[in-house]
Amino acid sequence: MAPSVASFSAFVLAGLPLALGQFVKAPTNWTHATGYSDISVRYKEVPTGICELNSTVKSYSGYLDVDTNEHYFFWFFEARNQNPKDAPLTVWINGGPGSSSMIGLFQELGPCRVESNGTVVNNPYSWSESSNMIFIDQPAQVGFSYSTPVPGYTDPNSGSIVVLSNTTCPDYAEECGTYSYPNTTLTANSTAGVAPNFWKGLQGFMGAFPQYSRHEFNFATESYGGHYAPIINQYIEKQNDLIANNTLPKAHHINLKTVLIGNGWYDPLIQYQAYYNFTVFPGNTYDYKPFNESVSTMMYNALYGPGNCVDMTKDCYARGINSVCSFADNFCASNVENVLDVFALRDEYDIRELSPDPFPPTFYVDYLNSPMVQEAIGAYVNFSESNSAVSSAFGSTGDDDREDGTIEALKSLVHDNMTIVLYAGDADYNCNWLGGEVVAEEVNAPGFSTAGYTNITSADNVVHAQVKQSGKFSFVRVFESGHEVPFYQPLMSLEMFDRAIHGKDIATGRRTVKGGYKTSGSAKSTYREGNSTVQFEVVNATATYNTTLNEPDATSAKKSFKAANKRRLFKPAKSVVDLTS
Ligand SMILES: *[C@@H]1O[C@H](CO)[C@@H](O)[C@H](O)[C@H]1NC(C)=O
Ligand SMILES: *[C@@H]1O[C@H](CO)[C@@H](O)[C@H](O)[C@H]1NC(C)=O
Ligand SMILES: *[C@@H]1O[C@H](CO)[C@@H](O)[C@H](O)[C@H]1NC(C)=O
Ligand SMILES: *[C@@H]1O[C@H](CO)[C@@H](O)[C@H](O)[C@H]1NC(C)=O
Ligand SMILES: *[C@@H]1O[C@H](CO)[C@@H](O)[C@H](O)[C@H]1NC(C)=O
Ligand SMILES: *[C@@H]1O[C@H](CO)[C@@H](O)[C@H](O)[C@H]1NC(C)=O
Ligand SMILES: *[C@@H]1O[C@H](CO)[C@@H](O)[C@H](O)[C@H]1NC(C)=O
Ligand SMILES: *[C@@H]1O[C@H](CO)[C@@H](O)[C@H](O)[C@H]1NC(C)=O
Ligand SMILES: *[C@@H]1O[C@H](CO)[C@@H](O)[C@H](O)[C@H]1NC(C)=O
Ligand SMILES: *[C@@H]1O[C@H](CO)[C@@H](O)[C@H](O)[C@H]1NC(C)=O
Ligand SMILES: *[C@@H]1O[C@H](CO)[C@@H](O)[C@H](O)[C@H]1NC(C)=O
Ligand SMILES: *[C@@H]1O[C@H](CO)[C@@H](O)[C@H](O)[C@H]1NC(C)=O
Repeated sequence: MAPSVASFSAFVLAGLPLALGQFVKAPTNWTHATGYSDISVRYKEVPTGICELNSTVKSYSGYLDVDTNEHYFFWFFEARNQNPKDAPLTVWINGGPGSSSMIGLFQELGPCRVESNGTVVNNPYSWSESSNMIFIDQPAQVGFSYSTPVPGYTDPNSGSIVVLSNTTCPDYAEECGTYSYPNTTLTANSTAGVAPNFWKGLQGFMGAFPQYSRHEFNFATESYGGHYAPIINQYIEKQNDLIANNTLPKAHHINLKTVLIGNGWYDPLIQYQAYYNFTVFPGNTYDYKPFNESVSTMMYNALYGPGNCVDMTKDCYARGINSVCSFADNFCASNVENVLDVFALRDEYDIRELSPDPFPPTFYVDYLNSPMVQEAIGAYVNFSESNSAVSSAFGSTGDDDREDGTIEALKSLVHDNMTIVLYAGDADYNCNWLGGEVVAEEVNAPGFSTAGYTNITSADNVVHAQVKQSGKFSFVRVFESGHEVPFYQPLMSLEMFDRAIHGKDIATGRRTVKGGYKTSGSAKSTYREGNSTVQFEVVNATATYNTTLNEPDATSAKKSFKAANKRRLFKPAKSVVDLTS
């Protein structure tokens, strides 16, 4: 029996993305496999104690070689408490664009968490309690994924990788390491651009591990995943059609059943406007008004004044020109979205906290940069949470300001009878629930407009969320939760996930959902938390978050204005969904 806690030496709170200056030794001793569609896969079995602490539950990591010089890192965990060969398979990806899926694994819903002293602890609310789970870093160069590994360093001012010609670390570089060569050609620059290689990655994994891929397939994501999920899954369905008529003889049908999207960025025209709604009118449910009259009218004008954010975004939608969309996005991000950061000094991902917000903690970044962990998982490059080459590739097409057909794609998935859950933590400003709710209405699933909000039951008898559901389509508003919902509401998140993938109603998990199922209740979700969990001082960087009280633990929360975490303060120019996911 594995010990419940694995020890790991502590490297606490270094301010830079790469905590340890080190070059990564190329991993060896791969097991090679050829997946479906001839995709090559290299993997290792990950030893017990590197995240999964139960020795009877297996874990594998490695690379899916989706294209010449494009290698996607994956980390797979068997389902717990059941025969994993009988369990469904779920993929989780983070957004960004450019954010690593290790964010979801280590801060949200994976089998473990890393504490401030580097100790790995079990996450009893891991989604692997219900499903086999695979986490994929994509597109190429994100997280542990790579094009080609090169020596380099991160420029602290721009966040860009600067390549070195050899492994001598010059004195002008604060810290050197091994990075993916930052070539914006060897990745994707748009939502449509990620779908083919993502599909190839799944083909690779499913062929290399058929024992974990026999049953249903589910797709879960957040944030920029509001773009990724609809488009990737529509692509998967189209590939399935080609497989059905023998156009792709080496490919494998992917048995897609469920799509879950947390705090998604779907439709910028709706969601840029929602920044005003969330802060000014009608406001959030925390009775918190961040702006005075003058700032409120400034934000309103930046949105609706002639030629401003709304007009520019409509122009982007109408003409679809890269420079128009890119310019519009930069304008909206700086003049609308960023008003919260500048005038209220608050965390866009959780309005209850001032910046720098210590939650969710980032101790796992140092863990993933330790040679011991990198060797165990076969990493070729050092780890960073967000990749600037990928975010600038997407920036060049203005993808963030485009709707990209996400709502039509969601409609097509509804038509294909997929279970779809759009959920949103209601303290997140970045991809806030007011905008998410309008998107859910626009999808216009049969019966949805006349369904009502009802409380979701939980094993702890606390109401953590409300749902409006019609047939297999639902919208969930999660109380007392920032952007990364499974961090703030772990029990409800696991229950919601488990109910969704088993075709049960989200509200109770007791009924099998059929076409005519519909929740009843009020048309709007009116519950108000009030301001008792809103913080009015910066929280200590080593504080812990209490998911029962929905605020920092009192003993850990001693306020500090000094414990500034540079990583959170430094924001790339276009900050929309870059930073966390
Ligand atoms: C190489 O991998 C095999 C099987 O995956 C394992 O049994 C062996 O111990 C590994 N060797 C080294 C040197 O890590
Ligand atoms: C380890 O996992 C196995 C298989 O899921 C399970 O039966 C067992 O109870 C787990 N052990 C612990 C200590 O959680
Ligand atoms: C790490 O901190 C936790 C409490 O957060 C404590 O239980 C554990 O013993 C510590 N481990 C080490 C190795 O210091
Ligand atoms: C490494 O590269 C630098 C800069 O190009 C050069 O000055 C130095 O001599 C090189 N060192 C070695 C050991 O090749
Ligand atoms: C980026 O990769 C492409 C495709 O391999 C190559 O043609 C191009 O020269 C590379 N660009 C740079 C700056 O290295
Ligand atoms: C985006 O990528 C596509 C496909 O690789 C390429 O044809 C296009 O030129 C790129 N767009 C920009 C603005 O770089
Ligand atoms: C297979 O289906 C696709 C689209 O559904 C169509 O474009 C293609 O022509 C079909 N091919 C064959 C061989 O029937
Ligand atoms: C979806 O479900 C409905 C009702 O159960 C059924 O009539 C329809 O054929 C299904 N559509 C697809 C694409 O499977
Ligand atoms: C924001 O408020 C305006 C005016 O009340 C309303 O028309 C719009 O639908 C709201 N949008 C969102 C995303 O809540
Ligand atoms: C739903 O939950 C909220 C929050 O706990 C509570 O105030 C309300 O009374 C509940 N409504 C019903 C119908 O149980
Ligand atoms: C919190 O809300 C209460 C009641 O709505 C209000 O009286 C109080 O001023 C608010 N506190 C702050 C700090 O905004
Ligand atoms: C932050 O919390 C740690 C651990 O509880 C404590 O040692 C430290 O003094 C606190 N810092 C401040 C500035 O309160």
